[in-house]
Amino acid sequence: MHADIVVLPGDGIGPEIVSATLPVLETIARRHGHAFAFREHDIGGIAIDRHGEPLPATTLEAAKQADAVLLGAVGGPKWSDPNAKVRPEQGLLAIRKGLGLFANLRPVRPHPAALGASPIKPELLEGVDIVVVRELTGGIYFGDKTRSDTDATDLCRYTVAEIERVVRSAATLARSRRGHLTSVDKANVLETSRLWRDVTTRVMREEFADVTVEHQLVDSMAMHLLSKPRAYDVVVTENMFGDILTDEASMLAGSLGLLASASLGAGKVGIYEPIHGSAPDIAGKGIANPYATILSAALLLRHSLGLEEEAQAVEHAVDRALDDRVFTADLAAPGQAVSTADAAQAVIDRLGA
Ligand code: NAD
Ligand code: IPM
Ligand code: MN
Repeated sequence: MHADIVVLPGDGIGPEIVSATLPVLETIARRHGHAFAFREHDIGGIAIDRHGEPLPATTLEAAKQADAVLLGAVGGPKWSDPNAKVRPEQGLLAIRKGLGLFANLRPVRPHPAALGASPIKPELLEGVDIVVVRELTGGIYFGDKTRSDTDATDLCRYTVAEIERVVRSAATLARSRRGHLTSVDKANVLETSRLWRDVTTRVMREEFADVTVEHQLVDSMAMHLLSKPRAYDVVVTENMFGDILTDEASMLAGSLGLLASASLGAGKVGIYEPIHGSAPDIAGKGIANPYATILSAALLLRHSLGLEEEAQAVEHAVDRALDDRVFTADLAAPGQAVSTADAAQAVIDRLGA
């Protein structure tokens, strides 16, 4: 097949992990007889520097026309003044919203060889296989904001339709897995959470009677996620809770550098990006873990291009690199780390003939 893939390297380690990932996709294309055209555009801090805005219209337009978007990360100290007029992160929020990508899938499946990198006891991690479905275009991220000399506000708003569609996505996914959905909210305090719980309960009763649903308050969920991670199959939650819980969940896998994501909407185009950020503390050193981005490319093959066999080939190759303890510095024992480029090459070497 032919596919147009918009590539948005962004800032910090973004360009390093994206340029490590493109050869993986090129190898897949060559081996499986596909033609992928990569079109690079600016987003985030680099777009502010070059165009004066974090999401130039040309970038959004290209993404709308593409089959899929592969993104590195945005942001960094250069653009982080709390009084700055524009921030790189606004570009990321705007492209998610502009493409209507309301469901952000974040799989968490600790690899046996990396269990030692997790601060959690290995016996709690065996068999853990969770997908967090984070609502991505609503809630406090997108409500009206105000700021004066004496106060500031962020409005958190959800509509019934916004909750219904993400719950349907999560429940459909749960149905294809172990048939269990955990909905996370703060219904003991927040009105948006009480609406979330009501709508979730109704949608599950009316449309997903075959999927079991449990409701969990976000504060105790943050604890249960570490104390009994095997109890979870699909977890659905609102935008900010999902952001926080998935960085926490990355510690089950051993590193933020292992968690991939797919941002999906009603159309075919999706954004595929690691859940981590631009890692300014290690940027430019060639030591970032590229696996989260490579695994995001696997999700791209699966969800936007419908290439399941190719997606699995990439996932198996990453698994085999981890089996062989090809670890970047975030996972490796002292003195054992490989570079970003070497880790990506190890995946390519394991893609099979
Ligand atoms: P971060 O995720 O960038 O980094 C947190 C820690 O994890 C750092 O110590 C970093 O070195 C490490 N880390 C992250 N990715 C890694 C990788 N692939 N390999 C090895 N180590 C890795 O979070 P932060 O420091 O809080 O944020 C830095 C900037 O990134 C901020 O401007 C933030 O807004 C932005 N950010 C962007 C995205 C995105 O573009 N999707 C996501 C999160 C944060
Ligand atoms: C993420 C990031 C973003 C978010 C920021 C950079 C806007 O933390 O993708 O998890 O909060 O959604
Ligand atoms: Mn985040």
